[in-house]
Amino acid sequence: MISEKLEKARAYEAENEKKITPLMRPVFHLTPRVGWMNDPNGFSYYNGKYHMFYQYYPYRPFWGPMHWGHAVSEDLLHWNYLPAALAPDEPYENGGGCFSGSAVELSDGRQLLVYTGVLSEKQPDGTMHDVQQQCVAVGDGVNYEKCENNPVMTAKQLPSDSNRFDFRDPKAWKAADGSYRCVMVNCDNKGDGRAVLFESKDGFSWNFKSILTQNNGKFGKMWECPDLFELDGKAVLIVSPMEMEAEGLEYPNGHGVVCQIGTYDDETGTFTCEHAQSVDYGIDFYAPQSTQTPDGRRVMIGWMQNWAFVNQHAETEPWFGQMALPRELSIVDGKLIQRPTKEFDALRKNPVSHNGVCVSGLEAVKLEGIEGRVADVELTIAPKSKDDSYYMFEMRFAQDDKHYTALRYRPHESELELDRSYSGSRIAMVHKRSCKVQDNGGSLKLRVVIDRFSAEVFVNDGEQVMSITFKTDLKAEKISFVADGVVKIDILKYEIK
Ligand code: FRU
Repeated sequence: MISEKLEKARAYEAENEKKITPLMRPVFHLTPRVGWMNDPNGFSYYNGKYHMFYQYYPYRPFWGPMHWGHAVSEDLLHWNYLPAALAPDEPYENGGGCFSGSAVELSDGRQLLVYTGVLSEKQPDGTMHDVQQQCVAVGDGVNYEKCENNPVMTAKQLPSDSNRFDFRDPKAWKAADGSYRCVMVNCDNKGDGRAVLFESKDGFSWNFKSILTQNNGKFGKMWECPDLFELDGKAVLIVSPMEMEAEGLEYPNGHGVVCQIGTYDDETGTFTCEHAQSVDYGIDFYAPQSTQTPDGRRVMIGWMQNWAFVNQHAETEPWFGQMALPRELSIVDGKLIQRPTKEFDALRKNPVSHNGVCVSGLEAVKLEGIEGRVADVELTIAPKSKDDSYYMFEMRFAQDDKHYTALRYRPHESELELDRSYSGSRIAMVHKRSCKVQDNGGSLKLRVVIDRFSAEVFVNDGEQVMSITFKTDLKAEKISFVADGVVKIDILKYEIK
């Protein structure tokens, strides 16, 4: 049975998506069918296709009671919208609605969505408070029925020191023995974040297993959107902490995404961290979720936005929020490596290259055939000679006479900076972020993927990634280079078709 609320959302999106022409969207990054998008949800491979659900408010380009939008793809780059999958139509979702969650295939072939229902509940002192509980819905890849026993996991099942209001974002998976596990975030009654683990034989009836790991004040306060998986023989736990305090150039203030690499003991349900690092060093990246491809790769997609800047746009924007490029993950020397997928590489067309070009001086250098707002640019930069270092190199893109976004490198500090100060923004928000990179005598390998309203920079074959969004007019499609000193560059640019 499709509820009135879901029917209304489906009719609304089908009617209003017509107002959004293809030119108003990125080419290979998923945007909401209409209205608002935040976290990726239920990212999975099911019945021969990748499914991406997302936190969705169809009626305005701002956050509102959460629905789940839905799209499918064969290559994670060309997406087809399906009708909205969930609307907040049950009494237990009358607060914030249907918050983030995940999808698993049941043994009988149906798809199970596990999500957070946010209920507005009267407290003993008479005030209303949102309470978060986990719910399930089961379906065929298009239509989903919420389970009569919802909620299936509540804070009452958690240890007694648990905060019962913050308990959300279930990421479920099937264990080797065919039973199910689910990791969620919670915090203790002092506000210290943690990840908790539940288990289930059938996906419908769940028991608390363990506190997977406690933050102990290390990464922000409350955590969001946990993801736990095995990768190259290690266990990886990715969480998005809130209220982080900046730590050098490794972690930013506010919301961030932290990857912890270590070991996971399925007996005790505990995770031990051996190494931690930022997942993205740009400005716009949060709440990523991963899945395994049929050929065994671990691919992750994040929300390419930052909660600090989501209320600065106009009501008339056709959509707000987009997903980041899918990244294939691996671990090399104990560290997370992220690269574009082979499916993305297959879309690269019409290569243009220039080798050994010397850029020197602050007069911008333009190179024949190097431009575009939908492009993949591979760039190697190096000093002219070993003993002839430079001070600064800058690549400018999405550029017209007045605007550009810059990727800037200062070899003496080993600092790479993304800067959208001149992208046309009229808002006093954070426009720059830098990271320390592995510098080989002033040489650096960069790959800049541009898709109309965003850029993602892969540094040194995926050692670091920096993501940024901007709204510069689409006619700004020049790319140019400046240098303080002399920099030798090799460049290879593709169109993405
Ligand atoms: C993270 C988040 C989740 C929550 C959802 C609500 O961006 O705050 O914790 O489930 O967004 O839309």
